[in-house]
Parts: sequence; C-alpha cells; structure tokens
Amino acid sequence: MKPYYSDEYITLYNADCREILPKLQDEYFGWTDPPYNVGKNYGAWCDRLDDDQYLEFCGEWITQFKCLCPETCIFVPRKYFLEYWNLLGKEYKQIILTWTPEGAIRGSFVNQHASLLTNVKPKHQTKDVWNNLQLPGLGWFFREQTYGHPGYTSVDLTNHVLAHLACPSMPILDPFAGTGTTLKCSKDLNRKAVGIEINEKYCEIIATRLSQQVLPLWNQMQDMPPFSPRTNIL
Ligand SMILES: C[S@@+](CC[C@H](N)C(=O)[O-])C[C@H]1O[C@@H](n2cnc3c(N)ncnc32)[C@H](O)[C@@H]1O
Repeated sequence: MKPYYSDEYITLYNADCREILPKLQDEYFGWTDPPYNVGKNYGAWCDRLDDDQYLEFCGEWITQFKCLCPETCIFVPRKYFLEYWNLLGKEYKQIILTWTPEGAIRGSFVNQHASLLTNVKPKHQTKDVWNNLQLPGLGWFFREQTYGHPGYTSVDLTNHVLAHLACPSMPILDPFAGTGTTLKCSKDLNRKAVGIEINEKYCEIIATRLSQQVLPLWNQMQDMPPFSPRTNIL
C-alpha cells in the first residue's frame, strides 16, 4: 500500500476507503464527514446512488471503520440519520450542532442544525448541543470552485471534536478525507493521522494544504467570500 502523501504525522491514501481500511493496523480515533448521497460532484465518486446501494456502501465502510476505531464520531447526513444510527448502534449518542448563518444567505431556508453520532465519553466536559461551530457543507451556499471541492468540513468543528472527544494517545483516521481538514487539524496539533480519499485531485489539494506551514489555504484560492465571522479555513 503506497501512500499518496506522507510526513512525520500524516499518511494519505488515494483509494476507495473500502480497499484500504481492511489493510490498516493499529487502533484509531475515527472522525469523518462522509458523502451524503445528495448529488454533489466528487468526480471519482457517484454521490447519487439508489438509497439501497448507498446504505449497502455505508454498511461496508462503517463495519470496517468500527473494527479499527474503538471510539468514533461521525457527521451524519440528515437524510439518513436513522439508518446511520441503526448501522452504528444504539450506544451512539447524538450531538446537535446549531449554526446561525449571519449574512450567509437571505430569503431562503438554510440548514441551521446538523448531527454528530459518537460512542465516545467526552475527554473534557461538554454539552450535547454545540452552538455556532461552522457547519460542513457550506459549499452549497457559494462558489464551490473556490475550494476545488464541493464540501469541505469545518475547521472549528473538527478542532472541537479532536479537543473534546479524541483519545490523546490514538492516531486519527478519516476515510473520507476530502480537502484534508481532519489531517490538517491533526498535524497542527502534532497528532498522527491517516486519511483516505478516492479522488486524486483532492489528494493534491490535501498534499498542498499539509505542506503549508504559514500560509492559510485560502491565500491560494482566489476570491474567497467572507461568508461568516467564524470562517477560518486553514
Ligand atoms: C463530505 S466530503 C469530506 C470533506 C472533508 N472532511 C474535508 O474536510 O474536505 C466526502 C469525501 O469523500 C470522498 N469519497 C467518496 N467516496 C469515497 C470512497 N469510497 N472512499 C474514499 N473517499 C471517498 C469524496 O471524494 C469527498 O471528497
């Protein structure tokens, strides 16, 4: 298994996660924001499967993921919340995320809440409602081409998950690495992490992002809109 990218902290594979997960060893803290099956254009992955096909796919990766990760936290697609809960197990608890999108979009409904499911006992005191951590999926609301990806995950949220839920001694695993938020946040905390991403173009974005020591990612990306006071994509 040859990584696409590796450094002292991070290993990234460019593949379908179902090929890599069975080959990994070690125990991990698992944190991921999977594809939601809502028709986003991920290039190498069809994000508009039949429900049955999508849930079969989820059954496969979740089984593999749980084998490697005694503790996990998953951003759950709203449309499949109950199905995810059934696949994960009733020992998983819900964390509700709320968001007030000041000035982000007007005159229409916006997703102002979302859910995580986790089987972790928090490492630091925290509530089961997390307010105003920038939500994933903001790619819906503005130009996806500025990111080179249709749905990056919030840095705020990822840092909060790592701080409150991740066991400090375990490496972190993200089987749907996307633009590499989990990997970048882990590296910034001097924590080891493994990521898997099916689309090579996104792996390139990740490698660039991980190589940046000082410059924020969006210096590279032209014309980034200041969509929220809490925006801090690094
Ligand atoms: C919601 S995005 C993840 C966003 C990511 N956390 C970030 O910060 O950018 C889901 C990602 O999963 C990737 N993906 C979809 N199916 C995959 C598979 N079978 N194996 C690995 N990656 C996959 C997609 O290409 C997409 O980049």
